[in-house]
Amino acid sequence: MIEQQTQCVVRAVRADEWERVRDLRIEALKDPAAPVAFLETLAQAEGREDSFWQDRAAGASHGTSVRQFIAEDADGTWVGSVTLLVERAGDQDFFEGKIEGDQGHLVGVYVRPEHRGTGVIEALCEAALEWGFGLEEPVLERVRLFVHEDNGRAQAFYQRFGFEFAGNAVPFPEGDGAMELELAIARPA
Ligand SMILES: CC(C)(COP(=O)(O)OP(=O)(O)OC[C@H]1O[C@@H](n2cnc3c(N)ncnc32)[C@H](O)[C@@H]1OP(=O)(O)O)[C@@H](O)C(=O)NCCC(=O)NCCS
Repeated sequence: MIEQQTQCVVRAVRADEWERVRDLRIEALKDPAAPVAFLETLAQAEGREDSFWQDRAAGASHGTSVRQFIAEDADGTWVGSVTLLVERAGDQDFFEGKIEGDQGHLVGVYVRPEHRGTGVIEALCEAALEWGFGLEEPVLERVRLFVHEDNGRAQAFYQRFGFEFAGNAVPFPEGDGAMELELAIARPA
């Protein structure tokens, strides 16, 4: 667990916390930034069965395929989350490209508005990368993410944190020609 400056604790979700996983995701999808931040819509998330959220929380709580981290305030409120997906060499990725080497893919990046600019997102990303790069199998060569070209705030944070533009862009689904830019951070030496 990582403590950061606003007294939040960052930790992985537990399987029995699926309702909180669902509620934070639905809150994120109501954020004004959601149309450029997430590929899922509010209607899609609200239409999902409980079993979807139960499976998601369980899958993200253990194992080496995916891990979701949350930041919990002193009063127990969840104030932000990130999820790291493990992508294996040879797999097809979201955008129908082929994954060249084992890598992490950071998704579901969200901090509640009143906690932005406080360091919560640094602590979440540090926890996710520590987990991903700490795996013995598979060994992740890098961690990547995609960010909408108009999401300036997220881009500024990712670059401050150490992600660099990877020179790849893919069309944002249903985005009227808008692009998602790939950023990546290499495995520490
Ligand atoms: C993306 C997010 C997690 C970043 O966390 P945060 O706490 O807001 O990040 P920070 O405030 O530490 O850093 C953001 C930086 O962008 C700057 N910024 C703010 N608004 C900006 C804008 N419109 N354009 C460019 N930069 C902007 C901030 O000043 C800050 O710069 P600094 O590094 O010089 O201080 C958070 O804003 C969020 O949850 N946004 C909504 C969901 C989202 O966009 N997720 C990412 C999907 S890829």
